[in-house]
Amino acid sequence: MRKEQRLSREQLAPWVYEPPAPREGEPPVRIDWAAVFGNANPVEVEVGTGKGLFLLNAALARPDTNFYGIEIVRKYQLYATTRYAIRELANVRTACADAKALFRLHVAPGSVQAVHVYFPDPWWKKRHRKRRVFTQEFAADIARALPTGGRLLIASDVEEYFGVMTAIARAMPAYSERPEETDRAAPRTDAGFATNFERKARAAGGGVWRAVYERTSADVTVVPDPA
Ligand SMILES: C[S@@+](CC[C@H](N)C(=O)[O-])C[C@H]1O[C@@H](n2cnc3c(N)ncnc32)[C@H](O)[C@@H]1O
Repeated sequence: MRKEQRLSREQLAPWVYEPPAPREGEPPVRIDWAAVFGNANPVEVEVGTGKGLFLLNAALARPDTNFYGIEIVRKYQLYATTRYAIRELANVRTACADAKALFRLHVAPGSVQAVHVYFPDPWWKKRHRKRRVFTQEFAADIARALPTGGRLLIASDVEEYFGVMTAIARAMPAYSERPEETDRAAPRTDAGFATNFERKARAAGGGVWRAVYERTSADVTVVPDPA
């Protein structure tokens, strides 16, 4: 990882919000977004921020939207958070957490306007596939987190995994595909790519697939495994 100016955990603290682990016998804390951000602006969540390029550009371009970045690897979360902190971005918070658990336990129904899942780890080996972040259960948890009209935006450089993600979303009445909005998923910047992994995929000459889904008013279902 390229060395950048590194801020201490204390300096980064104002940009970090990690909900407390559930206590036995008590319901898990639901995130109060207005309290976390200090305003009632709409909230968008990115799952697996990596080094944080998408969120950085989105937060700079849309200061009236709050962005919450979830990254399971601490060093990446700290690296990305440093980028937001040195620019003093008021509309970003991050968590080092498993996004699947965080959504299941801590995100209140209908409380986030959009969820971005860009270039999730493909876990190529068949026996490792269960480690993939985008599962039928996770797609359902995301749908519960979105209000009617909210958006799920996905992108991948792995055609097979993208096929699995789209098969799951298409099978769910809670999602309606919005092909006319495809360019909103991991929107390209002046540099020609939205995320670090898109840059890598393009440098290697590979393809990139994107899709956008609108949350419908239908009940959330967990669909069968499309594999
Ligand atoms: C292939 S990278 C893509 C990073 C970034 N979205 C990009 O496009 O450059 C996938 C990222 O998702 C993170 N990740 C994997 N599983 C996760 C999970 N369950 N919750 C949160 N982050 C996760 C990984 O640590 C990694 O940083």
